[in-house]
Amino acid sequence: MGFYSDQVVPRLVNVSCGMSLTRPLRERACAGLHGRVVEIGFGSGLNLPFYPAGVDSVSAVEPADLGWKLARDRLAASRVPVERAGLDGQSLPFPDNTFDCALSTWTMCTIPDAGAALREVRRVLKPGGTLHFVEHGLAPDEKVRRWQHRIDPIQKTVAGGCHLTRDIPALVRNAGFEIRELDTFYEKGTPKAMGALAVGVAVPVPG
Ligand SMILES: C[S@@+](CC[C@H](N)C(=O)[O-])C[C@H]1O[C@@H](n2cnc3c(N)ncnc32)[C@H](O)[C@@H]1O
Repeated sequence: MGFYSDQVVPRLVNVSCGMSLTRPLRERACAGLHGRVVEIGFGSGLNLPFYPAGVDSVSAVEPADLGWKLARDRLAASRVPVERAGLDGQSLPFPDNTFDCALSTWTMCTIPDAGAALREVRRVLKPGGTLHFVEHGLAPDEKVRRWQHRIDPIQKTVAGGCHLTRDIPALVRNAGFEIRELDTFYEKGTPKAMGALAVGVAVPVPG
């Protein structure tokens, strides 16, 4: 933690993640959310306008105080009650089988141990609950991957610990989920190294 990560990164995230090109993806990820929802890496609340009518409450997990402050207007306009209920996706302060759904958008790139966070999400989801995600990660093409590995150290430094080289579908499966829907593609208007997206819905594998 320091001035750059506390004061600059949340503002960069608010602007870069708030670009209009992310909106259709947020809308897509939020479709079908219902009941009690936990959102990992809530940031500045950019998903709030897209929560559908069936959502009863949102438990937001976000370490950055400034992200939460930047969410103020969106929180005030939100139809859904939102509580900042946790600070670290790797250790969620909720009992097992609490939530109907979980949401993660552009977050698994940044959490230091994304596998641990996904296992925590699995633990707090009810049986049959759904994890909805939009994440960027390791590209399908070798040429793009080489660039991702080259620039990953710079990206991690300037973008608050964001990794470009995480294999998101593999992380989700390895945490004990079955992926029910998955779309992988390059986001239009974004350099391929940063825009290799995985959009999907996963359910905990029983047992
Ligand atoms: C690129 S931003 C995305 C923010 C938001 N999900 C969005 O779509 O606009 C990554 C977010 O993950 C949060 N984050 C970092 N470490 C985390 C952790 N251990 N647990 C939960 N969130 C974390 C950051 O503070 C930041 O808000």
